[in-house]
Amino acid sequence: MGITSTAHLLLIILSCFTSSLVVSNAARVRLLEAVPTASFAPNTAVCDAGRLGSQGLDVTKLGYCDKSLSYYDRVKALVDGMTLDEKVGQLGDRAAGVARLGLPPYLWWSEALHGVSSTGHGTFFNATVPGATSFPTVIVTAASFNETLWKTIGQVVSNEARAMFNLGNTGLTFWSPNINVVRDPRWGRVMETPGEDPFVVARYSVNFVRGLQDLEGAETATDLNSRPLKTAACCKHYAAYDLENWLGVDRWHFNANVTEQDMLETFSYPFEICVREGDASSAMCSFNRVNGIPVCADPKLMKQNMRDEWGLHGYIVSDCDSIEVIVDGQKWLGDTEVDAVAQVMKAGLDLDCGKYYTNFGKAAVEQGKIKESDIDNALKNLYAVLMRLGYFDGMPMFDSLGKQDICSADNMELAADAARQGIVLLKNNATLPFTNVKTLAVVGPHANATDAMIGNYAGVPCKYTSPFDGLSKYAQVTYEPGCDIACKNESLIFKAMQASMNADATVILVGLDTSMEREGVDRVDLNLPGYQTQLINQVAMVSKGPVVLVVLTAGVLDIGFAKDNPNINAIIWAGYPGQEGGQAIADILFGKYNPGGRLPLTWYQANYVDQVPMTSMLLRPDDTLGYPGRTYKFFNGTTVYPFGYGLSYSTYNYTLPLTSPRSVNIKLGKLQHCRDLTFNEGAFRPACPAVLVEDTACEEELEFEVDVFNNGTMDGSHVVMVYSTPPAGIARTHAKKVIGFQRVFVQAGESTTVKFTFNVCKSLSIVEYNGYTLLPSGGHTITVDNGLDGLTFPFQVNFVADEESA
Ligand SMILES: *[C@@H]1O[C@H](CO)[C@@H](O)[C@H](O)[C@H]1NC(C)=O
Ligand SMILES: *[C@@H]1O[C@H](CO)[C@@H](O)[C@H](O)[C@H]1NC(C)=O
Ligand SMILES: *[C@@H]1O[C@H](CO)[C@@H](O)[C@H](O)[C@H]1NC(C)=O
Ligand SMILES: *[C@@H]1O[C@H](CO)[C@@H](O)[C@H](O)[C@H]1NC(C)=O
Ligand SMILES: *[C@@H]1O[C@H](CO)[C@@H](O)[C@H](O)[C@H]1NC(C)=O
Ligand SMILES: *[C@@H]1O[C@H](CO)[C@@H](O)[C@H](O)[C@H]1NC(C)=O
Ligand SMILES: *[C@@H]1O[C@H](CO)[C@@H](O)[C@H](O)[C@H]1NC(C)=O
Ligand SMILES: *[C@@H]1O[C@H](CO)[C@@H](O)[C@H](O)[C@H]1NC(C)=O
Ligand SMILES: *[C@@H]1O[C@H](CO)[C@@H](O)[C@H](O)[C@H]1NC(C)=O
Repeated sequence: MGITSTAHLLLIILSCFTSSLVVSNAARVRLLEAVPTASFAPNTAVCDAGRLGSQGLDVTKLGYCDKSLSYYDRVKALVDGMTLDEKVGQLGDRAAGVARLGLPPYLWWSEALHGVSSTGHGTFFNATVPGATSFPTVIVTAASFNETLWKTIGQVVSNEARAMFNLGNTGLTFWSPNINVVRDPRWGRVMETPGEDPFVVARYSVNFVRGLQDLEGAETATDLNSRPLKTAACCKHYAAYDLENWLGVDRWHFNANVTEQDMLETFSYPFEICVREGDASSAMCSFNRVNGIPVCADPKLMKQNMRDEWGLHGYIVSDCDSIEVIVDGQKWLGDTEVDAVAQVMKAGLDLDCGKYYTNFGKAAVEQGKIKESDIDNALKNLYAVLMRLGYFDGMPMFDSLGKQDICSADNMELAADAARQGIVLLKNNATLPFTNVKTLAVVGPHANATDAMIGNYAGVPCKYTSPFDGLSKYAQVTYEPGCDIACKNESLIFKAMQASMNADATVILVGLDTSMEREGVDRVDLNLPGYQTQLINQVAMVSKGPVVLVVLTAGVLDIGFAKDNPNINAIIWAGYPGQEGGQAIADILFGKYNPGGRLPLTWYQANYVDQVPMTSMLLRPDDTLGYPGRTYKFFNGTTVYPFGYGLSYSTYNYTLPLTSPRSVNIKLGKLQHCRDLTFNEGAFRPACPAVLVEDTACEEELEFEVDVFNNGTMDGSHVVMVYSTPPAGIARTHAKKVIGFQRVFVQAGESTTVKFTFNVCKSLSIVEYNGYTLLPSGGHTITVDNGLDGLTFPFQVNFVADEESA
């Protein structure tokens, strides 16, 4: 299945899927174009008496509109009132509705990854709503390490979404965020995610989901099945999905071989937290297989984990055309369409993004492969979410939201601030912030970046502030692109060199865009494209003033040459910084904002990709195969920049008050077993190496304060990161893991105290090879890291017999 045509490129921009397996690209384009452009009535509740009356229906006769009943009973009344044909007509993302019952069609598929998006079938931009605020791509926002920001963006996106719903331009169900952990630097969808650390990804998911979903005052509820929702979020793509198309292996055919240890510790962890702590009202299963089984057809991963163990209150949706992929791509178990539909429904899939449920659901019942009640259950999960969203009854507190709440000055300022908070200063050889720079050469293919700044899963932005626009507010700018992104032609490099010879300072903006990294497209190397490296070096060599390199990319690039080049005075990573990205870059270069972002990814050297194939899912190094480990937790080689790296115009130093406890005694019940751990040869093995976390009360906390001093001349926001390292000698465990972080504002020459409280079991445990989560005894190490170096202290875990326990 060659995926090379430009039609494909167009498709990826338009849609979250392409399955050239079945439908030709050309046909798919037609299919997308055929999407109806007006499918939501501007905000009218389904159970509105007038609306129903105009259709000749009496609201008092419709059980599902009876507000004296519970949501459970109303949803049941709705589903019980449908024929089998009507039921299957509601199981696809473009639900047909049931006119007879007053139920309108509903388009389930909308997206809001970093602003209301035009991807999907359920959101429309037109003259009524020409644009929505386009925040930085998630990898940039993640780099702020500011949980408040993550949640605030969710709330603002949700406001714009609710306003668009009132105007009839979108539904209320958004299939965001993407919380797959970045396992491999070549992955094409890095920009959509919060990076490589499962804990950070999980925290992002909780904040963003709560921002999108929660109504003030309804964050918790005794009955989570009726907790009101502002909009519905979705934790996707579950699970172990992180390969697009690498050297001929594509996501539709990929079988991810995953150990139980990696699954629990890394791949499924953010999903568990997204459901348990974010209370997300939806989750999406991914295309790939895990250990041979298509995820959407696996009752253990779906029903058992998500619903029974984690307590999902909501619906499970397939990635688009997943069922078709199971049949035609994976040819799993030689299934027929009907068999596949029965399999995934029994596994727990409620909604099909696609047409398989609609086309084959009835046959599955007639052939006895599923029961009609299985379909009823799926529909009840779906309608319960729409009830909670006020789709049936309205949500008066949001009625006033309208055009004035979309692309407002405040929202666009938040987009600029998010970019400022996330951008990372990687090198600063006494150059930034600029002072006395009156003329500026702004060169490179991203010097006037616009759409490149918003990445994928974007909507139509309110406007763009390109780097050229942003920098022009501070200096007189000469613009020379040097080449385009692919940079296959050196002919314009000379003009860029000339510009830099005549300016007080030079800013070179380079990197990648969605033609090189995106859904469906992985990379094969970590290099800058074409002649970009040459452009940088040649401009830097002749430049009259200082040179700042600004890199726009999500996936990591080996820019070691620039780090070491004395002609390049400063380097900034800007990711894809959203519609106001150019403003944020300029504010940082000219010192209006003091950068404080930190890398959410390990920046490997280029040879990393020669050492491990993208298809290997193993996080730990494999000495027999010569594979290095993945992510900062398991990779011990040389990096260009490590995970968590990031400078500022200030330096921050820490002191730890000596009063914080440096050990904890954990009482063991009489019947509680000590668990063994695998130790390296010759390592010290304590008498009781570990206990099983699930058998332990786990009430003990590790608490400490750290004083953070801003030893600079500029106020700044600073991220304090805390890692734990397990006792020495335990085999094949992580080198360290993030257990917490806080972004704090510290005035120049002042200090502030940051307090951390950790649950000992959660923060010091490890996942053993056999899938048990264990708390090791002995000397753990805590590191408090400022982006450059860290301060460490030991923390001892002792087990003691509990005399009182029976
Ligand atoms: C924009 O689309 C919405 C939803 O389809 C529709 O209600 C509205 O009338 C459209 N606006 C214009 C100006 O076409
Ligand atoms: C920057 O790009 C925008 C949009 O493509 C274009 O309108 C504008 O003229 C460009 N600016 C320069 C200085 O080329
Ligand atoms: C490079 O670009 C220049 C200017 O656009 C063009 O004249 C020239 O033919 C190109 N060279 C090649 C080898 O494509
Ligand atoms: C920093 O600047 C000094 C003085 O110009 C230079 O000697 C040194 O090599 C530069 N360091 C780097 C890493 O570019
Ligand atoms: C996954 O495991 C299966 C069964 O052992 C094997 O056939 C396949 O080659 C493995 N795939 C990868 C990418 O390692
Ligand atoms: C790094 O990991 C490799 C692969 O497991 C191992 O052989 C090597 O000893 C490790 N090096 C260090 C410095 O820990
Ligand atoms: C940080 O360093 C400064 C200057 O060396 C010193 O005065 C201050 O006490 C230190 N503060 C902390 C919190 O360590
Ligand atoms: C604080 O800044 C001063 C002046 O730049 C520097 O000499 C000193 O080493 C810094 N102290 C710390 C603890 O970083
Ligand atoms: C975190 O983000 C919030 C929301 O944008 C912002 O108000 C706050 O200043 C940020 N905190 C820090 C320390 O930068």
